Amino acid sequence: MTTITRPSILPKSNDACWCGSGRKFKRCHKASANAIVVTEPSVLPGIVSPRRPVPSTIVAPDYVANGGKPKKTNVSIVKTPETIANMRLAGRAVAQVLKELGQYVQVGATTDEIDARAHELYIAKGGYPSCVGYGVPNYIKSVCTSVNEVICHGIPDSRPLRDGDIVNVDATIFLNGVHGDSSVMFGVGNVDEASQQLIRVTKECMELGIDAVKPGRAINVIGQAIEAHASRYGYGVVRAFVGHGIGEVFHMAPNVPHYFDRNARLVMQPGMTFTIEPMITMSGSTDYDLWDDDWTAVTEDLSRTAQWEHTILVTDTGCEILTLA
Ligand code: MF3
Ligand code: CO
Ligand code: CO
Repeated sequence: MTTITRPSILPKSNDACWCGSGRKFKRCHKASANAIVVTEPSVLPGIVSPRRPVPSTIVAPDYVANGGKPKKTNVSIVKTPETIANMRLAGRAVAQVLKELGQYVQVGATTDEIDARAHELYIAKGGYPSCVGYGVPNYIKSVCTSVNEVICHGIPDSRPLRDGDIVNVDATIFLNGVHGDSSVMFGVGNVDEASQQLIRVTKECMELGIDAVKPGRAINVIGQAIEAHASRYGYGVVRAFVGHGIGEVFHMAPNVPHYFDRNARLVMQPGMTFTIEPMITMSGSTDYDLWDDDWTAVTEDLSRTAQWEHTILVTDTGCEILTLA
């Protein structure tokens, strides 16, 4: 018996299937290309520890004293040189926090332990953990930890990381009056090949999205580049969560879809700052469920998913990544 294994890069829908059947890929192995049937969730709600205090000497964003709702929202999407200078500092700080956190992402560590370390690191930099006290209902942790089938906004809790898990750690700091937002993937122990590929390709998706940023272009070129790359692997691009403008306000205009949205025609201009943070699913399906905590988003089919995020500035010639260490 011979086993034919699929190539990692898939044919286009109308091209011949890789299996040699002579049929179009879309009529042959396309639907089952990444079919890994998962029947049991790998992540369940755990125990969430109490909100950690932030010293009163650290300036908090306005929503913290306003039930999680931002007060200031009518802020220009093109930033002043002063705001940009502050965003470089906040961006670097958050990148340094993420770099430090890597050592704590180990088999047996709970996501709450990672959160505790992140909390201390932001404060040591004189920054406020933007997520603490944000949104309705209030998010109370300092990072999001999204494990395996969790798409985004996983709340750090008592679950110990297991060998083979993949986890996104999403960190946001409020420093000098502005936010810096970035996230990275970590593999825990021995991670299977398919998940390693998902992590790598998702990072490439973010990078291709960043490379597409040029003043004068429509913002939808970002999602177009990301979707083209993800599709080659049979992966799905999550549509329900998008990148966002950022600066004095945590989440503001413009929306940055990670799929091709023909209506996202806003023209990029030097001085705009926003995130690019694609969430990519292994199965290709992008349906999701929200847990009862109103934050944790998981793939409906329990397929694994990955995400990477940078905050970027549109420059005269392209863009500058603000969240580098
Ligand atoms: N950092 C996330 C983002 O990329 C937002 C997290 S909001 C929180 O936009 F409240 F869940 F922390
Ligand atoms: Co983020
Ligand atoms: Co973001």
